[in-house]
Amino acid sequence: MVFVSGLTESGMKIDKKDQTEHHKKMFELSDTLVKELKESDIIIISAPIYNYGPPATLKAWSDLAARIGETFRFKPNGRREGLLKNKKAYLVITSGGTKLNSEEDFLTPWLKFILNFFGIDQVEIISADQMALDYEKSIREAEAQIDKIKV
Ligand SMILES: Cc1cc2nc3c(=O)[nH]c(=O)nc-3n(C[C@H](O)[C@H](O)[C@H](O)COP(=O)(O)O)c2cc1C
Repeated sequence: MVFVSGLTESGMKIDKKDQTEHHKKMFELSDTLVKELKESDIIIISAPIYNYGPPATLKAWSDLAARIGETFRFKPNGRREGLLKNKKAYLVITSGGTKLNSEEDFLTPWLKFILNFFGIDQVEIISADQMALDYEKSIREAEAQIDKIKV
C-alpha cells in the first residue's frame, strides 16, 4: 500500500509536471483502485477493527480512491456528489471484543460514510464481531447473515 502524502488539498489534484516520484507512485496505484471501483457492480470489503477504527491500509485505500472528477465532485453550488452509481457494497467487519455499531466502533460508520461519499449508497453490513469472546458464535452469526443476502 502507498500512503498519501505531499498534497495540499483533497481529491488528489496535482499537475503531472509538478509530480514527484512519490506522487507518481500514488497516482499509479490510485488509477488502478479507481478503475477497479468503476468496473465493479458489487464491492466486497472485509476489514478488522484496529484500535476502534480502520486498519491504516484501509484508510490509505480510501485516500487513494477519493479522486476529484472520478469518484466524487463538487457541484457548482458547492455541495459534493459521489460519482459511483448503481453499485452495491457488502462490508464484512470483524472484531475481537468491540461490538459492531457500538460507540466504540468507529470503523463501520466511517466506512459507510466514505462509500456514500463515493456515491455507493447501498451498503450491507455482515458482522463477525467479538471473535475473541466466542469465535464459533461470531462465525455462525456471520454465516446466517450471509445466507439471508439476496443478490
Ligand atoms: C493492531 C490490532 C488492533 C486491534 N484493535 C481491536 C479493537 O480496537 N477492537 C477489537 O474488537 N478488536 C481489535 N483487534 C482484533 C481484531 O479486530 C481481530 O483480530 C480481527 O477482527 C479478527 O479478524 P481476522 O481473523 O480476519 O483478522 C485488533 C487487532 C490488532 C492486530
